[in-house]
Amino acid sequence: MGEKFLIQGRKPLSGEIKVKGAKNAALKVFIASLLTDKEWQIYNVPEIKDIFQEIEILKDLGLKIEKEKKGVYKVRAKEIKKTELDSSLSQKIRASIMITGPLLARFGEAKLSYPGGCLIGKRPIDLFLEGLAALGAELKGDKNTIHLTTKGLKGNVFVFPQISVTATECLIMAAALAKGKTVLKNAAMEPEVVSLVDFLNSCGAQIKGAGTPNIEIKGVKKLRGGRYFTIPDRIEAGTFAALAAASKSKVKIRDCEPLHLEVFLKILKKIGVELERGRNYILVRQSKALRSVKVVTHEYPGLPTDLQPPLTILLTQAKGLSLIRETVFEGRLFYTDILNQMGADIIMCDPHRIVIQGPSRLYGRRIISPDIRAGISLVIAALIAQGKSTIENIEQIDRGYEKIEQRLQKIGADIKRVKN
Ligand code: EPZ
Repeated sequence: MGEKFLIQGRKPLSGEIKVKGAKNAALKVFIASLLTDKEWQIYNVPEIKDIFQEIEILKDLGLKIEKEKKGVYKVRAKEIKKTELDSSLSQKIRASIMITGPLLARFGEAKLSYPGGCLIGKRPIDLFLEGLAALGAELKGDKNTIHLTTKGLKGNVFVFPQISVTATECLIMAAALAKGKTVLKNAAMEPEVVSLVDFLNSCGAQIKGAGTPNIEIKGVKKLRGGRYFTIPDRIEAGTFAALAAASKSKVKIRDCEPLHLEVFLKILKKIGVELERGRNYILVRQSKALRSVKVVTHEYPGLPTDLQPPLTILLTQAKGLSLIRETVFEGRLFYTDILNQMGADIIMCDPHRIVIQGPSRLYGRRIISPDIRAGISLVIAALIAQGKSTIENIEQIDRGYEKIEQRLQKIGADIKRVKN
């Protein structure tokens, strides 16, 4: 079933690798297109599984979505057929919970099954439901179904008890067409939130404060058509930088936005990685001595949880004891078990903390990719390991990284995709 990667480790890497558009930015703009009956064009869209699945969900609702050419899509939600998401489609991708925001704002109703569990933690949705209720949505449904209705959303003040990226974006979309003013406090500040807001404003929304914890939204009646250029994927850029550093290679990471990676780049420097950064590139030079560090994942602008797994691989190659504290998701360190089977020396103190004793030589083996970010990091581990590895369940990696094996081959990696 499916496909797998065959990797021969320790091949010298060099050259340039380009970063694609951000999955977690493009996904939201497709969803936000439900807010208007006008056409949007979306550029620099990564050709990845999560996007394809979301397009299927939206098409099933009645949106017209056409691919003009690679990475360019035309989207129009002029008429929709229904406000209920297909459960088998929407359970595949957690981001579908965000669709409730624009559906309620424009059509007054949204119905979907509870999103399934996920390997990186429980992933509750209470903040979405509380936030939408604060804007005037009524929650019906039963233990399997979320059914939200409203006679018209109204602006309100909502304080997030905990920072959530997608819940912030969902409420921004809902409030964009709500009556009156909404204030979101303790909102997420991620670049993907800012990018979504900038684009909505260019289509006529009135939103202030994105990129700060306080976002103010003055509801408008309608949004216009527009063109959105997807921002570079900061997680992909950071992952490539970790690969270059861990494999002691000189690699230029192009078409990225180093300003979105300030803390991660600072940590790389502390580890001893030699870097040069330009307006839209990061050049990682061949590293010499790598040192251990103590780091904590944090909401933006802190160290992104999505870069914790690649950083862990890098730290298996650094001298001394490193400590990683994962504060965002509780299930996001379990893949380190697989690294230990490859030769790493990692102790899990509790589900939120690991200690890495480095440097360790890693050895190739058969690996089953647990989730998207751990999956790509195990690719890095296999690339720096001695011998051969096979990585199965690569559908997880394909969720977020476009044709990754072809792009890695271009910098010298020995990685092949084969049928299982
Ligand atoms: C977004 O997920 C990203 N996904 C994640 O990327 C990323 O890891 C995460 O933000 C953190 O940066 C998308 O943008 C599609 P959260 P999100 O809500 O919004 C708790 C990837 O690999 N929480 O900010 O779902 C939650 O359990 C993915 O690309 C509640 O308690 O994450 C977590 O502990 C994985 N109740 C914390 O908040 C809620 O209702 C932060 O999660 C919602 C969240």
